[in-house]
Amino acid sequence: MKTRVTELLGVEYPIVQGGMAWVAEQHLAAAVSAAGGLGLIGGASAPGEVVRNMIRDVRSMTDRPFGVNVMLMSPHAADVARVVLEEGVKVVTTGAGVPDKYIRDWKAAGVRVIPVVASVAQARLMERLGADAVVAEGTESGGHIGEATTMTLLPQVADAVSIPVIAAGGIADGRGMMAAFMLGAEGVQLGTRFVASTEAVVADAYKQRIVKAKDIDSAVTGRSHGHPVRCLRNDMTREYARLEEEGKSFEELEYLTLGSLRRAVQEGDIKNGTVMAGQIAGLVKDVKPCAKIIRDMMNEFRALAGKAADYE
Ligand SMILES: Cc1cc2nc3c(=O)[nH]c(=O)nc-3n(C[C@H](O)[C@H](O)[C@H](O)COP(=O)(O)O)c2cc1C
Repeated sequence: MKTRVTELLGVEYPIVQGGMAWVAEQHLAAAVSAAGGLGLIGGASAPGEVVRNMIRDVRSMTDRPFGVNVMLMSPHAADVARVVLEEGVKVVTTGAGVPDKYIRDWKAAGVRVIPVVASVAQARLMERLGADAVVAEGTESGGHIGEATTMTLLPQVADAVSIPVIAAGGIADGRGMMAAFMLGAEGVQLGTRFVASTEAVVADAYKQRIVKAKDIDSAVTGRSHGHPVRCLRNDMTREYARLEEEGKSFEELEYLTLGSLRRAVQEGDIKNGTVMAGQIAGLVKDVKPCAKIIRDMMNEFRALAGKAADYE
């Protein structure tokens, strides 16, 4: 399958695995890339050398393209930005800010730069700065979120920029992918679906929580302080909501979630940890290998391709 996104990334399918903190480590990224998508290592708050080791590990597992997500708010962002260059990584996605400090060096080295955006204004700014594409991420997503839904954000971003748009938020099968393409995307990024994959090094309890999730099982913490995060409802989110209602400070609320994603991912603490996942968790009914996730999606996508003709 060919789109501007497959051409840009050098991949077989326009399917990107989101650079998820604690989840997007070398095994997951390598599995997605080996299956023909684009695997991403999630830089999150990890030091540069940790990311360097993960990059080398991916290379030992696959010779296909992969990328790194640089979280710009991380205290190690500059380090990770340099490591990406030193290791010759070909694709970088960025989150939590504007990559103006790094984009010139990355572009000079031929790195494809793809910022994640949650609004038309952000998309336009990234295009002006020289981004090669944007990931337009709707509020349905797991993790840190914006306000606009994927349904409304996508066509508006697609109309506003001429670089390719990759859709994220609420996509877990071929129907979601086709819908995104109809709205102007030329690629999709999936987070939640890949957490529930065989290769994700994530506690089984976390994966099963996603598999058992219903459509309305996600909650958003941190809205009152302008740092909304979507995760699955549990004792932590209930306590968070109670404290938010009481008007507790950002610092007090932060204390509740300190290290809580790592605890959920690595220790399987799905009661008091942060089980980041999107609204589409309700659609995820099984844990399966990344190659099967991609194959099933592409089969569904292709089966839908001629369907518009039915409405004539
Ligand atoms: C557990 C988890 C952690 C995430 N961490 C990050 C992150 O560190 N950086 C980032 O850019 N996006 C992060 N995301 C967002 C994903 O990269 C992706 O854009 C999003 O999950 C897509 O929406 P979906 O979950 O509906 O598929 C995270 C998502 C999840 C589920």
